[in-house]
Amino acid sequence: MTENKHTEIVVIGAGPGGYAAAFRAADLGKQVILIDKDPTLGGVCLNRGCIPSKALLHISKVMDEAAHLSKMGVSYGKPEIDLEMIRAHKNKIVAQLNDGIAQMAKARKVEWIQGTATFNSNSELNVKTENGNQTISFDKCIIAAGSTSVMIPGVPEDHPSVLTSRTALDLVDIPESLLVIGGGVIGLELGQVYAALGSKVSVVEFLPNLIPGADPDIVKPLQRKLKKQFESILLSSKVVSVIPNDDNSLNVTIETEKGSIEKRYSKVLVAVGRKPNSPILNIDATDIELDEKGFVKVDVYQKTTVKNIFAIGDIVGNPMLAHKASHEGKVAAEVASGHPSAFDVRAIPSVVYTDPEVAWAGLTEIDANENNIAYEKGEFPWAASGKAIAMGANQGKTKILFDPETKQVLGVGIVGTGAGDMICEGMLAIEMGADVSDIALTVHPHPTLGETFGLAAEVFEGTITDLYIPKKR
Ligand code: NAI
Repeated sequence: MTENKHTEIVVIGAGPGGYAAAFRAADLGKQVILIDKDPTLGGVCLNRGCIPSKALLHISKVMDEAAHLSKMGVSYGKPEIDLEMIRAHKNKIVAQLNDGIAQMAKARKVEWIQGTATFNSNSELNVKTENGNQTISFDKCIIAAGSTSVMIPGVPEDHPSVLTSRTALDLVDIPESLLVIGGGVIGLELGQVYAALGSKVSVVEFLPNLIPGADPDIVKPLQRKLKKQFESILLSSKVVSVIPNDDNSLNVTIETEKGSIEKRYSKVLVAVGRKPNSPILNIDATDIELDEKGFVKVDVYQKTTVKNIFAIGDIVGNPMLAHKASHEGKVAAEVASGHPSAFDVRAIPSVVYTDPEVAWAGLTEIDANENNIAYEKGEFPWAASGKAIAMGANQGKTKILFDPETKQVLGVGIVGTGAGDMICEGMLAIEMGADVSDIALTVHPHPTLGETFGLAAEVFEGTITDLYIPKKR
C-alpha cells in the first residue's frame, strides 16, 4: 500500500550536509522530513568515512608516537593488536554520534524516514521503505544524496579482496600486503592505518605527485615518512589489470615509467576519487539539469534549475568535503525558508589526516603559477620551533601566501602534527581579509605549534627574531 504525505521541506540524504539543512530549516520553523537509505543518520562521513577513519588514524598515530619514544628514552614492547576491540571501539564512536544526531532530529521534530527516495516529478518523491512505498509531495526539496567511490576498469569490483574506502574501514583483517590504487586523501589515510597495523602497503599514483591538489613542498614531509612506512610508492604509474587467484590474493599488473611490473597482493584498495549519486534519484522525472560529469547544477543560493529544488554537498561538485556540504546545507535551508542567504566563501580548507597532517586553504602555489597570479610568501620551518622540536615534529612547516600589493592572506599551507587544527587560523585570516601585520602583531602563545602561523608572517615582514635571515643587499 502506498502512503501519501505532504511536507514543507524534504531533505534527501542525512550526511553532514543533509542533516545540517534539515535541522536549520526546522530551527527556522519549517516542517521537515529527512530521508536516508541507511539505518542510521550521519551519511558516509559519520558511518563509513571521516569519523571511523579518524578513530583508526588516532590509533595508528599513537602507536607510531609510542614507538618513537624509544629515541627519547622510553621503550615499550611490540604492540599487541586485538582487531575485534579496535572494530568495537570504532563502532562505538560512530554509534555515539549516530545517537546524538537522532536525538537532535527528535528534539527539533524532524521526521526521519529510512528509505530510498526517487523523484516522481518536480514536486513529488517516491520513498521505498522496508514497509512499502510512500509518496511525499513537497513545497521545497533539498538534495544531499552524496557520492560513491569510483572503480577503475580491469578491477573485479565485487571480489572480497578488492576494497573501497567503505569496506576498508570494516577492518575485516590485516592483509599481509595491500596495494592502494590512488595516492590521494583516502588512499594515504587508510594506507597509513593498515601500515601501522602491520600490512606491507604499496601505493600506485597515476600522477607524478601524491595528493596532487596540494603544493609539493607541504606533501614532501609526509612522503618522506610514508617512504619509511610503506613498501613502495609508485608515481606516474597505473594499474592495468587485477586478476584474482584461487586463494583470494590478487595478481596486479602495474605500468610504471620504467616498464611493466607484476606483483601479488593479499588485497587492493581502490581510492581513485568519487562520483555523484545523481543516477539513483530518477532525476529524469524532473527538470533538474546535470553537468557532463553528473553533478547537479546549482547557483550561489544552492538552487537547481528547478526553483523549488536545492542541492548541496558532494552531489553538486568538488571539493567533496563534509564542511563544504554543511555550509551549503545551511544556505539551502535558509533560502528555502525564505531568508536571504548565499554560499559566498573565500576558501574551503582541505585536510589530510595522515601523520604528519597536511592542510591547505585558499591559493596554492600550483594554482598561482598555473594562472599567473602574483603572490609572495612567508614560511616558518618547524625545525626552528621549540614546541615542534620538543615533540619530535620538526619536519613540519607553515607557509602563508600574501597578495604583493595589499599584503592580505591569499592562501595557507601547513604540514605537521595538528596542521588540520592550525589551518583554522588561516581560514579566519582569509575570510576576514587579514594582512601580514594583523597576523604578525597578534600575540601567539609560546611554545605552541600555532605560533608558527604568526612567525611565518614575521618572516615575511622581516621582523622575525626566532630565525636569522641575512638581509638582502
Ligand atoms: P582523491 O581525488 O583525493 O585522490 C584520488 C587519487 O587517485 C588522485 O591522486 C588521482 O590522481 C589518483 N588516480 C586516479 N585514477 C587513478 C588510477 N587509475 N591509477 C592510479 N591513481 C589514480 O580521491 P579519494 O582519495 O578517493 O577521495 C575521494 C574524495 O573524498 C575526495 O574528494 C576527498 O576530498 C574526499 N575525502 C576527504 C577526506 C578528508 O577531507 N580528509 C578524507 C577522505 C575523503
